Amino acid sequence: MYDGGKIIVGIIIGLVLLTFPIWYTHGMAPKRPEVKLPEKEKQCVQSKEYMKTKHMQLLDLWRDSVVRVAQRSYVAPNGTKYDMSLQNTCMSAECHAKKTEFCDRCHDYTGVVPYCWDCHIPPKEEPKEKPEEMH
Ligand code: HEC
Ligand code: HEC
Repeated sequence: MYDGGKIIVGIIIGLVLLTFPIWYTHGMAPKRPEVKLPEKEKQCVQSKEYMKTKHMQLLDLWRDSVVRVAQRSYVAPNGTKYDMSLQNTCMSAECHAKKTEFCDRCHDYTGVVPYCWDCHIPPKEEPKEKPEEMH
């Protein structure tokens, strides 16, 4: 009546398919994003460690200072004065002129979509010169 062999083969195929997501992704966690740091400017308004974990809070602080108390000037710990501006300071030509190679790399990886760009204008980036090579 039953074909034992076929049932066993069926069960094995079923198990392989069921566990596919587990063994297929084994050891293949998505690569950490590589961000491109500015070539010209080497010093951000705060340390790299601070910016990595607190850039969102700093941006909020900048926005609130400008919009609510009309204070536009920020004095960094090393005494340098900056204009508190997302577009004109952070995203300036000397700094993060390429949103796609910096902000977006991390945000895409972590699934963060800041709504800032609904209003603020990201820097214009020239399209890639060469299309990405296929492998
Ligand atoms: C609904 C539109 C809108 C959105 C969304 C928005 N902003 Fe703004 N933002 C403004 C306007 C308008 C100003 C005032 C511009 C000025 O006075 O220079 C401003 C000012 C600022 C400033 C200070 C001035 C400057 O030139 O940058 C910062 C910093 C800022 N926003 C950061 C942010 C961040 C960070 C986000 C996302 C978390 C964000 N904004 C989202 C409209 C917006
Ligand atoms: C090193 C990785 C990294 C880089 C580079 C980076 N971000 Fe972020 N950003 C994050 C992470 C992670 C979060 C989410 C933090 C959280 O939810 O606590 C975030 C959150 C934010 C938020 C708050 C968004 C929200 O909805 O709460 C803003 C605004 C923001 N980033 C702006 C920027 C801008 C502007 C740049 C580029 C100049 C940038 N970030 C570059 C990692 C990065």
